[in-house]
Amino acid sequence: MKAIRLAAPGGLSNLALAELPDPGAPGPGQIRVRLHASSLNYHDLAVALGMIPTADGRIPMSDGAGVVEAVGEGVEDFAVGDAVVSTFFPHWLDGPPAVGDFATVPGDGVDGYAREIVLAPAQAFTRAPKGYSHAQAATLTTAGLTAWRALVVEGALKAGDTVLVQGTGGVSIFALQFAKAMGARVIATSSSDEKLERVRALGADHTLNYRREPEWARAVLDLTGGRGVDHVIEVGGPATLPQTIRACRIGGHIALIGILTGMEGPIPTVELMSRQQRLTGLIVGSRAHQRDMVAAIEATGIAPVIDRSFALEAIAEAFALQQAGAHFGKIVLAF
Ligand SMILES: NC(=O)c1ccc[n+]([C@@H]2O[C@H](COP(=O)([O-])OP(=O)(O)OC[C@H]3O[C@@H](n4cnc5c(N)ncnc54)[C@H](OP(=O)(O)O)[C@@H]3O)[C@@H](O)[C@H]2O)c1
Repeated sequence: MKAIRLAAPGGLSNLALAELPDPGAPGPGQIRVRLHASSLNYHDLAVALGMIPTADGRIPMSDGAGVVEAVGEGVEDFAVGDAVVSTFFPHWLDGPPAVGDFATVPGDGVDGYAREIVLAPAQAFTRAPKGYSHAQAATLTTAGLTAWRALVVEGALKAGDTVLVQGTGGVSIFALQFAKAMGARVIATSSSDEKLERVRALGADHTLNYRREPEWARAVLDLTGGRGVDHVIEVGGPATLPQTIRACRIGGHIALIGILTGMEGPIPTVELMSRQQRLTGLIVGSRAHQRDMVAAIEATGIAPVIDRSFALEAIAEAFALQQAGAHFGKIVLAF
């Protein structure tokens, strides 16, 4: 079977196609999945670039979708022929957060899904939404579930709420789609006017160019009658958090998700405290969250926004597109 391996110390030129032995039949509790798609996340890019060190020869990519080819003894959740999608934390099944690092995350601490066939514990997958292509399903593991958990699980989103999404990458576009499908208003930011036009076409109620308007919190307050938004999907991190705190309403919820502007920085803690906001750091979600999200997708009919699709062997080209920030929504690998 074909797979991609990343040689140490990382870097896109160290991604190479390899021929690996067929992994054979599933053992007890396992399923054998013929993978057909994966999708690119910022985390995968950071691993591929060597910003996050990983083992020499690691198979990258945390997201995988495909078809169950065989089930091992005792597997009850799946049957041969089922369309499935991988989970980000194969061992966090349900309940409160149980994981605080990436040691068990496919494509980082363990081998991921840039390969044609995998044997995995059945619990490392859920059913994919009915009617989804494998490429669509592969966008859900990381980006889809992070947006879902931020808004619905941690934010208790309800119709009539206002959500601020930053930029037009995978997580933010999913957040926009979930928010609109659930009856919320959305304010979206981007560095590009052309991308802002596209988010308006997806239902964003208001848009702001964060390059032209670096102090965008003021504009968000104007758009919300001085109140601020109920939820923020904070993908920027340290450089955007001060604006986010100002743009979020008193008592609002900030889901701290991203590191696009760095790993640490000065935060106006008194403003956060006096505005009585809830700041939730989170990493993706549990298998139970993913099952709930799949049910919500089937009920709402949300379809992921896929910018471009690449063959498995063109993975470096796909990452280069992501690194350039030229994409809108998700970039996928289909194979
Ligand atoms: N905690 C978690 O569970 C979790 C899960 C997934 C992702 N993340 C993190 O969330 C972030 C986004 O991930 P992703 O996979 O969605 O990335 P992505 O698809 O690569 O999207 C990146 C987009 O972010 C926007 N952006 C860049 N700098 C920005 C800034 N200063 N302010 C606002 N937007 C900015 C750009 O949009 P425009 O071109 O429109 O400006 C860019 O295209 C990353 O830091 C990633 O590590 C965290």
